[in-house]
Amino acid sequence: MARIDPHSFTDDAQPRVRSVDWDARVQFSSRTIRATARLFFEASATGPVDLDSRGLAVHWVTDDAGVKLPWSFEETDAVLGDRLRIDLGAPTASILVCYDVGPEASALQWLTPEQTSGKSAPFLFSQCQAIHARSVLPLQDTPSRRITFNATLHVPADLRGLMAAEPVSREENDGVASEMWRMPQPIPPYLFAFAVGRLDARDIGARTRVYAEPEVVDAAAWEFAEVDAMLAAGEKLFGPYDWDRFDILVMPPSFPYGGMENPRLTFVTPTLLAKDRSLANVVAHELAHSWTGNLVTNATAEHFWLNEGFTVYAERRMIEAMEGIEARELHAALGRDTLIKAFEQFDGKPELTCLRTHLHGVDPDEAFSSVPYEKGYLLLRALEEQVGRERFDALLANYIRTFRFGTVTTDDFVKLCETQLPGALNAVGAPAYLNAPGLPPNAPEARSERLARVQAMQGKAPDVEALATFDATEWQLYLENHSRPAAWDGLERLDARFDLTHSENAEILVSWLTLCAASGYAPALPRTWEVLGRIGRMKYLRPLYQALAKEQSTRNEARAAFNRFRAGYHPIAQQVVDALLTKLGAA
Ligand code: BES
Ligand code: ZN
Repeated sequence: MARIDPHSFTDDAQPRVRSVDWDARVQFSSRTIRATARLFFEASATGPVDLDSRGLAVHWVTDDAGVKLPWSFEETDAVLGDRLRIDLGAPTASILVCYDVGPEASALQWLTPEQTSGKSAPFLFSQCQAIHARSVLPLQDTPSRRITFNATLHVPADLRGLMAAEPVSREENDGVASEMWRMPQPIPPYLFAFAVGRLDARDIGARTRVYAEPEVVDAAAWEFAEVDAMLAAGEKLFGPYDWDRFDILVMPPSFPYGGMENPRLTFVTPTLLAKDRSLANVVAHELAHSWTGNLVTNATAEHFWLNEGFTVYAERRMIEAMEGIEARELHAALGRDTLIKAFEQFDGKPELTCLRTHLHGVDPDEAFSSVPYEKGYLLLRALEEQVGRERFDALLANYIRTFRFGTVTTDDFVKLCETQLPGALNAVGAPAYLNAPGLPPNAPEARSERLARVQAMQGKAPDVEALATFDATEWQLYLENHSRPAAWDGLERLDARFDLTHSENAEILVSWLTLCAASGYAPALPRTWEVLGRIGRMKYLRPLYQALAKEQSTRNEARAAFNRFRAGYHPIAQQVVDALLTKLGAA
């Protein structure tokens, strides 16, 4: 027997599950799901099967003939969850597991009506990456065990269920709607996704549609109107789009990420609704995952950079195609700033700043940072600069063709590179990216006139004329690089002129409030508490709470605010912020 993934109990000597029929009854009153999962094996199977699960209440397991099978939880691990062992008797093509999902499932957030825009109906969503699918269904929860599925979701008839899958039908009976879905393309389990709520939809193109609460659906349709053109740009760069549709679901504000690339139905935070389409790069990023991530998938979380580094690279190629090189470089510069801050986040654990990580006993949510994104981007960008775009694009095309609907390790990438671009990896010093911590020497730097203009303004009194011409990315660069603590009178003047405290752009707003917090600037505090109480996106919670907790004058208030808002945050966000505050002495 051999384990193939440090984050899964999957044993490669055991029968392989290749598809799932899932039937799930969503019960808002008890925050539970009563479910059955029929797992189909690749071939008729016997012997023991170990499945990943976390917190599931199993009622019974049967084989094809309906014969009850013995099962037990053999082992529980703080990171991996519960190993569910099922002993198959006579050869069987499938097993049926009947179980309940409890209110604490780590993949789920159950929202009260008050936590939604409409305030009239509850909401439920899943977030399975990296290893939370097992808290919703028992399975071999490792990316190299791709599955297809059919699903039936039973939801209150006044609500609508959505899955990252193809809709088949919806029927209503006695106040319950039963919705059928199918996913014909094999997916890694972390892309299993669904949501239930009061949802409306607008078509934005032949293959694209937005879903959102009725209160925001028109704003969302406007914000994402360019997605069809983005999809065309993606196909031109990376080849045919294999997932038929690219729809977007705008989540309630507590969604912990900017976006999640669930196939056919990307989930996004409502903080992208900036009213000026300036945060479309997040959608470009999730769309790019359709090739890098969803089609070519990291074999385990130890190779996460192959998902995210490639996707950031692809996202910036898309930005270049749609908005030009200057815009691409501004985003690259912002990325580099984020990377430098991520190295600080891991100053006690430098090994987590290598691209290739070793995560035995480490929860992927704790290892998460911008390093795989931005250091991965820099490696690919360095390779591109080394061999020229044409040869780099040929490598990228070959990578996608070779590994599509498969999984990759760092070694697979290295081998392909060595064959196709001999010597290139060494020429850019790839080992310093892959296996050494920190920023590699000679890592490429962003270059652009607009960037130089922003950089020239650092450390000087604000040039109001020039600031007035800044776009959203330039503002972020300016604010992120502002010296801190900043003098109060300068902050006061900036806000008086540009009203940053009320910016509609969440990136600008949070960069501003973080600068204010790091400067102990009290006038911005009421707005800061308001933001922390409304938005659950971890990218914003982290820097805000960190800046507040580092400042002596707001340290205790930061903890008090967290205690107040905590119940509204996603379980992962609760854990991340709690750990951060504790580390900074905000007990
Ligand atoms: N797949 C990630 C989100 C994720 C990663 C969820 C790991 C859970 C575990 C998604 O594609 C992502 O990277 N989102 C970014 C977008 C940004 C890089 C443009 C985000 O949420 O900020
Ligand atoms: Zn991503």
